[in-house]
Amino acid sequence: MEQVLDIAYAEKQRREQSIQMVHKILEERYDHQPLAYVHSFGCQQNVSDGEKIMGLLAQMGYGFTQSQDEADLILYNTCAVRENAETRVFGNVGALKKLKKEKPGLLLCLCGCMMQQKQVVEKIQTSYPFVDIIFGTHALHTLPQLLHTKLTTSQRHVISVEEQENQIVEGLPTRREGSIKAWLPIMYGCDNFCTYCIVPYVRGREKSRMPQDILAEARELMAQGYKEITLLGQNVNSYGKGLEPAVNFSKLLRMLNEIEGDFRIRFMTSHPKDCTRELLDTIRDCDKVCNHIHLPVQSGSNRILREMNRHYTKEDYLALIDYARKNIPDVAFSSDIIVGFPGETREDFLETLELIRQVGYERLYTFIYSPRTGTKAATMADPVPAAEKSAWMQELLELQGELGQESFEKMVGRSWRVLVEGEGKTEGTLTGRTESNVIVDFKAPKSLIGQFATVKVTKAMKWAVLGELIEK
Ligand code: SAH
Ligand code: SF4
Ligand code: F3S
Repeated sequence: MEQVLDIAYAEKQRREQSIQMVHKILEERYDHQPLAYVHSFGCQQNVSDGEKIMGLLAQMGYGFTQSQDEADLILYNTCAVRENAETRVFGNVGALKKLKKEKPGLLLCLCGCMMQQKQVVEKIQTSYPFVDIIFGTHALHTLPQLLHTKLTTSQRHVISVEEQENQIVEGLPTRREGSIKAWLPIMYGCDNFCTYCIVPYVRGREKSRMPQDILAEARELMAQGYKEITLLGQNVNSYGKGLEPAVNFSKLLRMLNEIEGDFRIRFMTSHPKDCTRELLDTIRDCDKVCNHIHLPVQSGSNRILREMNRHYTKEDYLALIDYARKNIPDVAFSSDIIVGFPGETREDFLETLELIRQVGYERLYTFIYSPRTGTKAATMADPVPAAEKSAWMQELLELQGELGQESFEKMVGRSWRVLVEGEGKTEGTLTGRTESNVIVDFKAPKSLIGQFATVKVTKAMKWAVLGELIEK
């Protein structure tokens, strides 16, 4: 343990030194405050990493811009989960060639999940040689050292993509985008190896943060006025594995719920195989923990679930839903669904539709299966043509459109507590979310943004509801 702390301390020293040195170099190099354009693709974990990257860049002296043309440094924090995520990144990087030509001093950085794949890094080196810095998910905290190397040597590419299974790096600065809702990572990596998924390969093994570090960060967020925190992990239900003293996700939620203040706690993602009755009871007991559970089922066919290595059956899943519905008032569910997993038949797909009908999700995130190099599913026979998969997807979306609206209809006539997040799409309206994560649009003064309000729902739309502010 002591040795680990020594390494962490030395690492921190190195980082701080590099931050100071880069700061000085930038002051000499630019006659203005250098600006960074940072974009994170992919999931909330990536967005949260992006906030740390921005925290580090800010410490080195960078300001931020939303315009690539204005930027002195452009950084893409990439996602590898599906092919179209990767294609989008390559498209964006290709377009930077021109910008780099016009402005040779522009620094281009690529990081995140795609960079943990060998074939991607090779492609960048050969096809996009104008990229300056490439680093993977394990090297985020070394960005100051990498930038320092780039600024002080003639190295064309500075690359750091080795997989390192070291400890979690605490104490990195965070520059959060919003001031109402905050992401709070509680663990990193994934051990589950669902057969379609690249995440365990690009994020490494599961590691949990110490509860005291999470609690301290949550308290700080409350002090800063945040009204909602979302705890992040690929499988938050297995939080605490390997930590001493023993702690699990339910215990963590109970500790967070004790923090003083009027705020909400959300979490994602919950893996059904580790979703326990204890957790559902905890959600019921803790007033700050939202009664909304993102519980991705992926498929309604037991055969496909087995092929996906998900470790639960449709029956196990429905039993959890049933228990939650009986115990947690107004509980709502959302899910991820994969359409067209290798070998999935029309019958399997119809079982997914049936399950969706049975559960009645508030929202679905739907994906057509995308083969990922290195995963088991990528080697399985996949005979269903893409056009057929798209037609299935269309059917699924239509069904969910109807079911979503039906579940919203049930809200009409009742009053709900809403966290007001900003202005709505139409003039004079605000938008917020209920505890169950439903979007509510209603007329109210802008001064309510960032506050809780009580809203009576008057009308159900397809993807949201409309309401009227109830004066308190
Ligand atoms: N850890 C989370 C999911 C992270 S990835 C969980 O286990 O639920 C987010 C979603 O992307 C997954 O739930 C899955 O539905 C989808 N996904 C992952 N790999 C995919 C692939 N190869 N093709 C299509 N969708 C995929
Ligand atoms: Fe991917 Fe499965 Fe891990 Fe989720 S639990 S990140 S789907 S391997
Ligand atoms: Fe994508 Fe990496 Fe998240 S692959 S979904 S950004 S963990």
